[in-house]
Amino acid sequence: MLVRMQLTAIAAVARNGVIGVAGALPWHIPEDFARFKQVTMGSNLIMGRKTFESIGGALKGRISIVVTSRPGPAETLTPAECGAETRLLWVSSLDEALAAADPAKPTFIGGGGQLYREAWPLLTDLDITQVDRSPAGDTYFPEISPDTWRETWREPHDGFCFVNYTRA
Ligand SMILES: NC(=O)c1ccc[n+]([C@@H]2O[C@H](COP(=O)([O-])OP(=O)(O)OC[C@H]3O[C@@H](n4cnc5c(N)ncnc54)[C@H](OP(=O)(O)O)[C@@H]3O)[C@@H](O)[C@H]2O)c1
Repeated sequence: MLVRMQLTAIAAVARNGVIGVAGALPWHIPEDFARFKQVTMGSNLIMGRKTFESIGGALKGRISIVVTSRPGPAETLTPAECGAETRLLWVSSLDEALAAADPAKPTFIGGGGQLYREAWPLLTDLDITQVDRSPAGDTYFPEISPDTWRETWREPHDGFCFVNYTRA
């Protein structure tokens, strides 16, 4: 039997599907940042180069795995510099990113739009902040169809909801 590894996309998504504008987030929701930190701490976090640049650096306590077509060093932080739990790896495809991930830790796809689309067929779970707005934007999350995704948990807040889905 083929055992599929758990692979979770984590994203904040507006009502109209927007996730980004001009290389940044269209909103500032501190509770969303706090949840992102809490959920991804200690995990592998795979992201596209543009998202990495928008974050501005490796995230503490996580293995940041950045997908880019540009050649570069495989690893640009070392445990001696920043602690064993913080690493920054550069890879040239999603397959390489998945192979580089530490199998003992959970693995998240942290965006952006291009990475979510590429990982979509492999995703087993979605950890979504549903943002109750419809901002202008240039980057979108794929449609979360109820035919494919079953909601398993929902926590409402003022202006947004945390929602988990698993592949049906
Ligand atoms: N709301 C949210 O939760 C959320 C989360 C994350 C990001 N975002 C937003 O999303 C936007 C960025 O998303 P994006 O779609 O423009 O970019 P992205 O997915 O972050 O990064 C795209 C880049 O990743 C690299 N890449 C992707 N697939 C590759 C492959 N198969 N092989 C080699 N390289 C590959 C390429 O880098 P190179 O050009 O270096 O080759 C490509 O230009 C920003 O606005 C950001 O703020 C929102």
